[in-house]
Amino acid sequence: MPLNQTGRPIDDVIADLRAKQAGDARWREGRTFGLVFDGGPEVHEVAERAAQLFLHENALNTKAFPSLGELQAEVVRWTADLLHGPSGAAGFMTSGGTESILCAVLAARERGRKERGITQPHMVVPESAHAAFHKAAHLFGIELTKTPVKADWTADVEAMAAAITPDTVLLVGSAPQFPQGVVDDIPAIAALAQAAGANCHADACMGGFVLPFAEMLGRPTPPWDFRVEGVSSISADVHKLGYAPKGASVVLYRDRDLRAHQTFVFDGWLGGFYASPNLQGSRPGLPMAAAWAVMSHLGVDGYLRLTDATLRCADRLRAAIRATPGLRVLGDDAYHLVAMASDPAAAHPIDVFALGDALARRGWLHDRQGPPDSLHATVSAGNARVMDLYLAEFEDSVAEVTGRRAADRSTDYATLE
Ligand SMILES: Cc1ncc(COP(=O)(O)O)c(C=O)c1O
Repeated sequence: MPLNQTGRPIDDVIADLRAKQAGDARWREGRTFGLVFDGGPEVHEVAERAAQLFLHENALNTKAFPSLGELQAEVVRWTADLLHGPSGAAGFMTSGGTESILCAVLAARERGRKERGITQPHMVVPESAHAAFHKAAHLFGIELTKTPVKADWTADVEAMAAAITPDTVLLVGSAPQFPQGVVDDIPAIAALAQAAGANCHADACMGGFVLPFAEMLGRPTPPWDFRVEGVSSISADVHKLGYAPKGASVVLYRDRDLRAHQTFVFDGWLGGFYASPNLQGSRPGLPMAAAWAVMSHLGVDGYLRLTDATLRCADRLRAAIRATPGLRVLGDDAYHLVAMASDPAAAHPIDVFALGDALARRGWLHDRQGPPDSLHATVSAGNARVMDLYLAEFEDSVAEVTGRRAADRSTDYATLE
């Protein structure tokens, strides 16, 4: 259908949009284990009111919108404090985890070029690290060595050490990694990076707004943040377990010198001086203001409440999987990312893709992932409210699929259309 010639009444336009949403995942009912993270009605309200205020503003030029410069500085400072950044720690807001990772990889490349004269940069990335690192290598012309994980799904640090070359500019660890939810040995990876004169990026897109609160709640938390010497940069997504709407992440550096390698400054254009902190040009104020508003509304106590609910919910999910013959949990018991897989040692292993399909028919959304074939759950506070219902339908679904196998073996973390 071409664009209509004459405009249409607002109510009709909105009614069409609502109709298009009919087939979408039911996140408002707590039925998505990923994609949308729901902090509850008050979090929606504060985000929506902030979004209304900043719907049209543009952080391209914070001299025109000093409010957005302030909001960014505060979100960055609050996040740096949570992650024990030293007083000189500095960063920027970005549109999401992928952009934060792209910026950190670019900064590592540029540091290698300027300080060590590296012209053919190389990075070492465990196979569990997010696909965004591969995208960065592709975009920025960096050779990437992918290293294996160990039996506990954490990065094999010895393999990473063996992969380092004189041109290595970056080593990556995750806190936690997405597929099995485990935290890599960040101190060991950071030590390797330091010895090589390279950056170490700790990807806490998933954990940045969980691990600090888990630690405050007394859950065992391995060292992973800026308290680890040698961690040069961290990505932490406010739009995941920070419960802000999409479009908000923070990329942080231990100091301003490391951050300077990320920025782009150009003074040779007829349009005037161009200074750009991240990969964007025009930068929507909406996600920045909404992230600021959600963080400010929740405060540390709000995040402790949501993190506690989330981690208890993840514990219940793991317990249910372990109590089900034919299923097993991949990874440890620590945080909010849960991977369930078939148990090959069981008398009747359950095909998790068939199980995922049965759950989807009941309105529950898990990502399929692999290898190995597994169902992913990023548990968040919105799931906690409906866990009794989920667990009942999980049991029904297990009974329904025992002995069946899904013909479709595809996995779809992200799509093109
Ligand atoms: C560990 C990790 N890093 C990076 C990302 C990418 O974040 P985004 O989807 O916001 O680009 C994700 C997304 O789930 C993730 O789990």
